[in-house]
Amino acid sequence: MSADTRILNVDLGVRSYPIYIGSGLLGDAEIYRRHIPGERVMVVTNETVGPLYLKQVLAALGDYQVETVVLPDGEKYKTLETWQRIFDGLLERRFDRQCTVLALGGGVVGDIAGFAAACYQRGVHFIQVPTTLLAQVDSSVGGKTGVNHPLGKNMIGAFYQPRCVIADTDSLNTLDDRQLSAGLAEVIKYGLISDLPFFEWLESNIERLLSREPEALIYAIERSCQDKADVVAADELEAGKRALLNLGHTFGHAIETGVGYGEWLHGEAVAAGVCMAGELSRRLGWLSAEKLYRIVELVSKANLPTVPPENIGRSQFLELMAVDKKVVSGKLRLVLMQGLGQSVITGDFDTAELQNTLDEYGR
Ligand code: NAD
Ligand code: GLY
Repeated sequence: MSADTRILNVDLGVRSYPIYIGSGLLGDAEIYRRHIPGERVMVVTNETVGPLYLKQVLAALGDYQVETVVLPDGEKYKTLETWQRIFDGLLERRFDRQCTVLALGGGVVGDIAGFAAACYQRGVHFIQVPTTLLAQVDSSVGGKTGVNHPLGKNMIGAFYQPRCVIADTDSLNTLDDRQLSAGLAEVIKYGLISDLPFFEWLESNIERLLSREPEALIYAIERSCQDKADVVAADELEAGKRALLNLGHTFGHAIETGVGYGEWLHGEAVAAGVCMAGELSRRLGWLSAEKLYRIVELVSKANLPTVPPENIGRSQFLELMAVDKKVVSGKLRLVLMQGLGQSVITGDFDTAELQNTLDEYGR
């Protein structure tokens, strides 16, 4: 590990763990040795990431007995059927409770593999090795794992924390531009939730991020992970403020489910969802038009959509948004903005304005 590697801590008592961020970490045998207690490791990856990075990881896991499960690539495979394939691999090779499941890939691999680790023999060790920007700034941190259901995104899953997160920024070099932008949606989200200085930094540095300047990327990943770790440490199981991390997600999940999983990238749906939450907040008189303009401008500069797809109308949106984990006793709650960096979770808004917002985008 180089002296430049950043190490953050997710502070969860006995389940606390480090996040390593830096260059050259995928092949760092010492980090794996530090966090893998048994002898056997099941690496879960997919057909895109495997050919790129599996060899490097296997070389660094030379001290262990390692097997691999290679999943099909894509959000549409984030299903119970794919999840089951991990158990097939674990059982066919007689893995016991001392084993470690290591997720090598983006958020889809991490979410499915984490959910398998949570359930195999009621829970085995788990390590996240995220290889997309989105997974490095969000999905690998905080212990949310799960799969989609045809009727709702991420509706089946468990909270299950990894033993560490290893975010090798070199892996971002092979990510295509569209995926890089999708990750930036979640980065922008952190600024808008509670970190105005970070939002302002992003306004000034978005071009550096888009051109993948290592220093800028490392800063954005570290700051995002720190923001997320703080929220998770305060509310691991989402009894309250963790729901803030879902800014843009109620609209976004409706888009993902509505257009069909994988048609819009998760980050793209979140980006449009953030702008929709901003528009509703403006209509409620909570956010000035000038601030909304700054949000839409930044999202647009990050090459992300600022409006939802044309083919989802008001009634379909409302139907899809009703299948949301923030719904309590049938009442929809949303994350809205009372300023830049001042998001709130609330069910206390004028639903007519929600309908007007959805109509504004309806064609
Ligand atoms: P993804 O996992 O589908 O990865 C995007 C694409 O990039 C895939 O085709 C993948 O194979 C490929 N890829 C991965 N790493 C690569 C690399 N280094 N080089 C080239 N290609 C690479 O998508 P994602 O954006 O990483 O994650 C989205 C998923 O994460 C969604 O399912 C979303 O619901 C979930 N998510 C979960 C949480 C959480 O807290 N658990 C938070 C945010 C998002
Ligand atoms: N991505 C939302 C959360 O981790 O809570």
